[in-house]
Amino acid sequence: MKIAILGSGGREHALAVQISKSKKLDKVYCIPGNAGTDSIGKNVNLELDNFDEIYRFIKNEKIDLVIVGPEKPLVNGIVDYLNKKNIKVFGPNQKVAQLEGSKIFTKKICEKYNIPTANFGIFKDKEETFKFLQNRKMPLVIKADGLAAGKGVYICKDIESSKNAVIEIFNGKFGKADQILVEEFLEGDEMSYFVISDGLCFKSFNTAQDHKRVGEGDTGKNTGGMGSYAPSKLINKNLEEKIINRIIKPTLTAIKDMGQMYNGFLYAGLMIKDNEPYLIEYNVRMGDPECQTILPLLKSDLLDLIIASCSNNLKEKNIEWFEKKSLCIVLCSKGYPESYKKNIDIPNLQKIKSSNNNFIYHAGTKISDNAILAVGGRVLNFVSISDNYLDSRNEAINQIEKLNWKNGFYRSDIGFKVIDK
Ligand code: AMP
Ligand code: GLY
Repeated sequence: MKIAILGSGGREHALAVQISKSKKLDKVYCIPGNAGTDSIGKNVNLELDNFDEIYRFIKNEKIDLVIVGPEKPLVNGIVDYLNKKNIKVFGPNQKVAQLEGSKIFTKKICEKYNIPTANFGIFKDKEETFKFLQNRKMPLVIKADGLAAGKGVYICKDIESSKNAVIEIFNGKFGKADQILVEEFLEGDEMSYFVISDGLCFKSFNTAQDHKRVGEGDTGKNTGGMGSYAPSKLINKNLEEKIINRIIKPTLTAIKDMGQMYNGFLYAGLMIKDNEPYLIEYNVRMGDPECQTILPLLKSDLLDLIIASCSNNLKEKNIEWFEKKSLCIVLCSKGYPESYKKNIDIPNLQKIKSSNNNFIYHAGTKISDNAILAVGGRVLNFVSISDNYLDSRNEAINQIEKLNWKNGFYRSDIGFKVIDK
């Protein structure tokens, strides 16, 4: 089969590597891809916003199936657009992608279907929100409704910072805001829980934990993700039953009640307290960098699962995993998540040897005249697989130190909650 993957991050490189292990794959195209995906398949430099151009390319190349990596094209309706033209796509349609595209959409489902989540209020303007905030117990969490690349969430410790968040959101920092979400602050430990769904049935697709903050000890600014490990240490049979019965199943029922089907990966961002799960948010795709730690643990054929998912045939499939611990450290450009230099050479990269258990997924890289240049904030993902998180972390750090990239920085404490006790 000929497959196109949309996206250019570490997640998309990991997807490309994993599907290239399948006998069913003839050729993979990455739109637009990065320097890593270029060595597996063919990169095609098209804008993800330009659906017409993507369609023309897919049609001309006779591509059989499109896998959508990031959320933005899903929320903007690429699945509906391509399906109308009889192109098969792995990913949810625009209506159900609202699970990620609108936090208020998801909260309303939680309310109607009794899904455990933080208590919340929805407000229509600044004054109404300020009135609610008076004499509230802090901290409170204030959220912009729409996609904000992980930036539209404020955890506020006092009334001043709460008001500031409300003003920034209603003034349009994350796009036009007609509504705002105010939530109770949940205590506990976070966990990312994944399923793959074909619209009729779903299967669990492992767990992970990411580190979103830029600084050691989970401090400083939010980023796209500085590292992750899989599986989460929090998961157990009893917790998984609660997640499935109280969160995943009611959500998929809600989708069905809307006359819709969920096709693709579904990612539940959860808070776990005393072995009880609460939904923080949904994402309608794999996580990045969670994907880079989960896929190397997959024993089953990913492409086969994706094909089954697109033909409502997932029920027949058994998903098997290696019983190993996987850890990913993201090497970033100095300055990230604020401003950083672009087009910086990564001189030693081609000298780093990967093995079955240690490898690199590219993110913000491109090839230029046989050199590999850093073009993004998150540049390379160093992944290591072993029998324990500590060995995996040590080996990932070892590889980063070998690269010795002068323009890079990374967190050396990924997985600290499960390692440094
Ligand atoms: P979100 O984009 O909704 O995942 O929020 C980003 C991050 O903010 C989450 O990963 C949590 O660390 C934190 N967060 C969001 N909502 C809450 C909440 N109600 N209570 C505590 N932390 C939260
Ligand atoms: N790792 C967080 C995300 O993919 O949204």
